[in-house]
Amino acid sequence: MPSDLSIRELTVNYGPVRALHGVSFDVPEGQIAALVGSNGAGKSTVLKAICGLVEPVEGTITVGGEAVAPKPGAALRLGVALSPEGRRLFGRLTVEENLMMGAYTVSDRRARREMLERVYGYFPRLQERKRQAAGSLSGGEQQMCAIGRALMAQPRVLLLDEPSLGIAPIIVAELGRIIEQISRGLGMTVLLVEQNAQMALSLAATGIVLETGSVKLTGTGHELLASPEIRAAYLGH
Ligand SMILES: Nc1ncnc2c1ncn2[C@@H]1O[C@H](COP(=O)(O)OP(=O)(O)OP(=O)(O)O)[C@@H](O)[C@H]1O
Ligand SMILES: [Mg+2]
Repeated sequence: MPSDLSIRELTVNYGPVRALHGVSFDVPEGQIAALVGSNGAGKSTVLKAICGLVEPVEGTITVGGEAVAPKPGAALRLGVALSPEGRRLFGRLTVEENLMMGAYTVSDRRARREMLERVYGYFPRLQERKRQAAGSLSGGEQQMCAIGRALMAQPRVLLLDEPSLGIAPIIVAELGRIIEQISRGLGMTVLLVEQNAQMALSLAATGIVLETGSVKLTGTGHELLASPEIRAAYLGH
């Protein structure tokens, strides 16, 4: 499988603090990759760098072989959409209004309607609540809305920042299944950032373990789940 998203030697500083040092990994086309690590490891910083929200000191990011310029909007133009940490929905707008905001780069009305139907297919709860204010959704439903909004851009690469955060285990399992269906059904490349290593690695073809800004280990999701080091550090065994 050719790589759809490539990160090479990515280094990011926040003022005097180095958040990432020489991070490199690949996400193959149409697959799910899990980027796992504990609080402050630098996971969200990787996503911010891809989206041009922080400027790397060094390193390159390519999508479909094309270099992503380090400015906001550049990744979106190459087909990358982000469901950010903390969801960032417009609480007073309805579920459907939030979803449609994700499609502002899609000029074809019919394509937007079709994608909306697909999103409702993946998340029937959102369809049931489409006229409800997004701020009144439960945590799990808000997460679904944030993922749905990112999907509305019809991305080739979907970035998900901690979809399991603050969500009941049963909903995490449901979200995991839906993420898998989305990747399979739409042939979409997914970079799944998670502190919940168990959930993320069990879905992922490729896993990357980030520790204090560096890649500690990579392997298939299954290899990492079975690794004693990972089990001790991230899975509480
Ligand atoms: N805007 C910022 N200014 C200064 N330091 C920052 C900023 N954003 C992040 N950092 C620091 O960079 C490091 C990496 O943060 P990042 O948010 O990427 O971690 P993370 O792996 O996403 O953690 P979490 O799982 O808690 O979301 C942390 O030490 C954090 O304090
Ligand atoms: Mg984070």
